[in-house]
Amino acid sequence: MVKICGIGAGYVGGPTMAVVALKCPSIEVAVVDISHSRISAWNSKNLPIYEPGLEEVVKQCRGKNLFFSTDVEKHVYEADIIFVSVNTPTKARGLGAGKAADLTYWESAARMIADVSQSNKIVVEKSTVPVRTAEAIGRILAHNSKKGIKYQILSNPEFLSEGTAIQDLLDPDRVLIGGNDGPEGHEAIQKLKDIYANWVPEDRIITTNLWSAELSKLADNAFLAQRISSINAMSALCEATSAEVSQVSHALSKNTKIGPKFLNASVGFGGSCFQKDILNLVYICESNGLVEVANYWKEVIKVNDYQKSRFVNRVVTSMFNTVSGKKIAVLGFAFKKDTSDTRKTPAIDVCKGLLGDGACLSIYDPQVSEEQIQKDLSMNNVEWDYPIHLQPMSSTTVKQVNVVSDAYEATKDAHGICILTEWDEFKAIDYQRVFDNMQKPAFVFDGRNILNVDKLRETGFIVYSIGRPLDLWQNMPQQA
Ligand code: NAD
Ligand code: UDX
Repeated sequence: MVKICGIGAGYVGGPTMAVVALKCPSIEVAVVDISHSRISAWNSKNLPIYEPGLEEVVKQCRGKNLFFSTDVEKHVYEADIIFVSVNTPTKARGLGAGKAADLTYWESAARMIADVSQSNKIVVEKSTVPVRTAEAIGRILAHNSKKGIKYQILSNPEFLSEGTAIQDLLDPDRVLIGGNDGPEGHEAIQKLKDIYANWVPEDRIITTNLWSAELSKLADNAFLAQRISSINAMSALCEATSAEVSQVSHALSKNTKIGPKFLNASVGFGGSCFQKDILNLVYICESNGLVEVANYWKEVIKVNDYQKSRFVNRVVTSMFNTVSGKKIAVLGFAFKKDTSDTRKTPAIDVCKGLLGDGACLSIYDPQVSEEQIQKDLSMNNVEWDYPIHLQPMSSTTVKQVNVVSDAYEATKDAHGICILTEWDEFKAIDYQRVFDNMQKPAFVFDGRNILNVDKLRETGFIVYSIGRPLDLWQNMPQQA
């Protein structure tokens, strides 16, 4: 029986290894992590992450050919193939701080692999890493391993999106495998291809050299984020000209050279990947002396920051230039719907902006806990980049923040509502009931463009929706 070990039981390692186990019953898959709490959650009824369909897959395979363990060394020792899905956050200090990827976790995984291995291994990079990381990892393995043990490193970046991870893994657009040229590299690529071939059609498995695979992942995220920043930049112009961004998006989407995806204007993109990976790309460009290229990608992040602060400005200016002491309901805190993940969620910056102006926030998210929201709002940006369990817990709670368990409670007596995540249940709220229980004038700021603006205006709300014509009320120049 082929044995696989997945190092890192996070948002990528957990679902990816679970789907490999589901689709390859003859392979034994052990997922290992240094976090005891994460592993015990994977072995319990309450999985550590919320992802539609994940629970069913885990239930089907756990204890059969899928195991979760903290015995990292044992499973690495036994494995033929090792998938490394450890976190690669933005470096917090030292050379390249604030931009470069922090490869500490990757390096320590590589050193451990070299320490415990007694047989040849294929080491698969699943984590998103800077281009040419495989070279560095190869050196660490070569210099630290027992004599005669051979490693083949493959780059097999993961393209899943949170919220649709299981669907994306079961039916991927493509699987990318980069490897070394030469017979041993080709053999390793073929072994990994054979695993995916259990459920992925062969024409969707792309093979490249190592560096193209590594760079393609950074390029992929940069291109996706750039589309969102492009449409968000257009949304600001729409507001200034009474054009409507959804109509502009629709027109763009019908151009087959552009296509329909990733054109939803929003309060800004979030998530653990886009900002981190673009910063990493910027750093790599700068390190290669490509200043203009670095500046080009930096703008994608600048526009995203502008979009979040523009939203806060719009809330404050609409509400008579102050939200001090006013209750504002925040609906949604996760960085997108169908996930409990709050890493780099735009809600953090928006809430911090409103708190800075003295607002009292009443926050409701269907999947994010009060503890998580309080932690996110009290942590500084550097702490926030690192996994929760590797950081000392912050005990501060933000006094002006109240986390509640439903949308009606959040909006009761509020002056305004901010929709920050596009959860489906927010579309089904009885907005007449909400309006009746709010302070007047009652404002809605739809940061995800999910609500029916005309209907809300008929109900009596003053409505701001990104990139759409403003209420006369709001038609005043925005502060920078
Ligand atoms: P995560 O923080 O959820 O999970 C990483 C896990 O690795 C943590 O549980 C951590 O404890 C564990 N870990 C760290 N060092 C370890 C070690 N030496 N031995 C064993 N376990 C160790 O991160 P994630 O969101 O799963 O992302 C992992 C990687 O995948 C990152 O490089 C990320 O950029 C990339 N990626 C993420 C996504 C996504 O949507 N989250 C998608 C594609 C790629
Ligand atoms: C992203 C990539 O899509 C995925 O390929 C990669 O593997 C990991 O990073 P993820 O961050 O999980 O996935 O979610 P994604 O669906 O890309 O959304 C990222 C952010 O962009 C979210 O905050 C989302 O709300 C926002 N977004 C997305 C928009 O604002 N508008 C859009 O049109 C699409």
